[in-house]
Amino acid sequence: MRRAACPGSFDPITNGHLDIIVRASRLFDEVVVAVSINKSKVNLFTVDERMDLIREAVGAHPAAPTNVIVESSHGLLVDFCRVHGIQSIVKGLRAVSDFDYELQMAQMNNSLAGVETLFMSTNPQYAFLSSSLVKEVARYGGDVSGLVPDVVLKGLRDRSGL
Ligand code: PNS
Repeated sequence: MRRAACPGSFDPITNGHLDIIVRASRLFDEVVVAVSINKSKVNLFTVDERMDLIREAVGAHPAAPTNVIVESSHGLLVDFCRVHGIQSIVKGLRAVSDFDYELQMAQMNNSLAGVETLFMSTNPQYAFLSSSLVKEVARYGGDVSGLVPDVVLKGLRDRSGL
């Protein structure tokens, strides 16, 4: 079975992430969304909330792929890949500015465990999009509809002050 990981913090998932996950689901037998647990990062949503938001967003997508599963991941991504029998990592690239760090991680992961990283070009519609910007715009009352799945929109509105 060809399995790919789509890793990230997903705090919260955006339409840019969702687009990459759905496109990856057409190329692999199974896509495992690896939600990173990083205790040194302050997140808006807990890991369980982030996982539920991803599951609901994937289910509500018009394509509603059934070969996407969502797991939490702590520690090295290559260890997560080994445990889950994953051979490839799929990452979205928004712009050249993403490339340096992504290439460095891809090369490190390949050197650590032979895991391949495939870069997928972000839909230009979402090239400017990031979870941090979404949170900032939402915090100041800006409209982020169209940038995040509806379930995330609701999650952001439910958060006090957002
Ligand atoms: O959404 P993010 O925060 O940009 O995702 C970054 C993430 C989680 C994909 C990256 O930090 C990662 O892979 N972390 C797991 C720890 C790890 O394997 N670090 C070494 C990378 S070479």
